[in-house]
Amino acid sequence: MSRAVIIGTGSALPRRVLSNAELEEMVETTDEWITTRTGIKTRHIAGAGEETSLLASRAAANALAMAGLSAAEIDMIVVGTISCEKTMPSCACLVQKELGAVNAFAFDVNAACSGFLYSLDIADKYLRHNPSLKVLVIGAENLSARTNWQDRNTCVLFGDGAGACVVTGGGEGRGLLASQLYADGRLWELLHMDSARSLNPDLAGSASEGPFIRMSGRDVFRYAVRAMADAIGSVLRKEEVGIEEIALVVPHQANIRILKSLAEHLGLPFEKVYVNVHKYGNTSAATVPIALDEANREGRLRNGDLLLITTFGGGFTWGAALIRW
Ligand SMILES: CC(C)(COP(=O)(O)OP(=O)(O)OC[C@H]1O[C@@H](n2cnc3c(N)ncnc32)[C@H](O)[C@@H]1OP(=O)(O)O)[C@@H](O)C(=O)NCCC(=O)NCCS
Repeated sequence: MSRAVIIGTGSALPRRVLSNAELEEMVETTDEWITTRTGIKTRHIAGAGEETSLLASRAAANALAMAGLSAAEIDMIVVGTISCEKTMPSCACLVQKELGAVNAFAFDVNAACSGFLYSLDIADKYLRHNPSLKVLVIGAENLSARTNWQDRNTCVLFGDGAGACVVTGGGEGRGLLASQLYADGRLWELLHMDSARSLNPDLAGSASEGPFIRMSGRDVFRYAVRAMADAIGSVLRKEEVGIEEIALVVPHQANIRILKSLAEHLGLPFEKVYVNVHKYGNTSAATVPIALDEANREGRLRNGDLLLITTFGGGFTWGAALIRW
């Protein structure tokens, strides 16, 4: 059976780097608190000309260059995002225009920090039916535009950026071997972001002030570790693969302590967990494709390696995928 095979990766980060020292001037916090509680040292903040769709397009162009494909050869564009500069059209349509990917159909997926994994899973389902398709799967966010910069509980955690993969169909045991997605909408209040205030006077009262990210950090932490460990267990069982066979885990980058705890739960040496949260913070749907691109360019993904992706985010949404590189 044909499976989704990643043939190119790319990423794009805004120029402006915001350090913990600068945050100390903005809210009551310290570099020491942020570093020990989250592992984050810096994050990138988008400015003019670095809107979500433009970061997504830059990441996609880098992935296309690696794959040796032109934009016109792309059949489908899927963007995982919760922070595009427009609600309509989709970020994917803006990327299509920016790249000149005139032959692609395009749509967004809202699954918060799991947006890239959900999008990859959808692309895989298309590729099982039509292996010749060439698909751009992207995760892109501008969370700094949705952050309450007076709320120290959240503003130290997030950053902006985009990552992209070019995916096509392949066989012979390569590509996405198994994936498992989950959601639990009953827990939505633990991590959420309102839309803009309603213009319908009957509904306006229901929106709270400011479309900011709100979070119950301790609860999210607890659920995230268990959920990602369970999802990984599920895909490993599906393919009868042992954790010791895994070369690298590329998890959602939210907090170094979540990643350490996940490694412990899995019985995995921490060296096998890819980490870049110290540089970029939590870029939601973009963390996994940015990390994949970095790991790829650093030569940490070798042909035939078994790789795990896992994510957790607002919804709650979560999941895992097992990939043979
Ligand atoms: C947010 C998070 C870093 C907080 O770490 P924690 O160890 O759980 O800290 P707590 O929530 O217990 O808060 C401890 C104290 O630090 C304070 N605090 C919160 N943010 C702070 C900051 N930036 N600087 C200094 N103090 C801060 C809190 O107000 C609290 O003070 P209190 O005890 O006087 O009320 C952690 O819970 C986390 O990472 N959760 C997951 C968040 C996440 O990844 N979300 C996205 C998932 S996709």
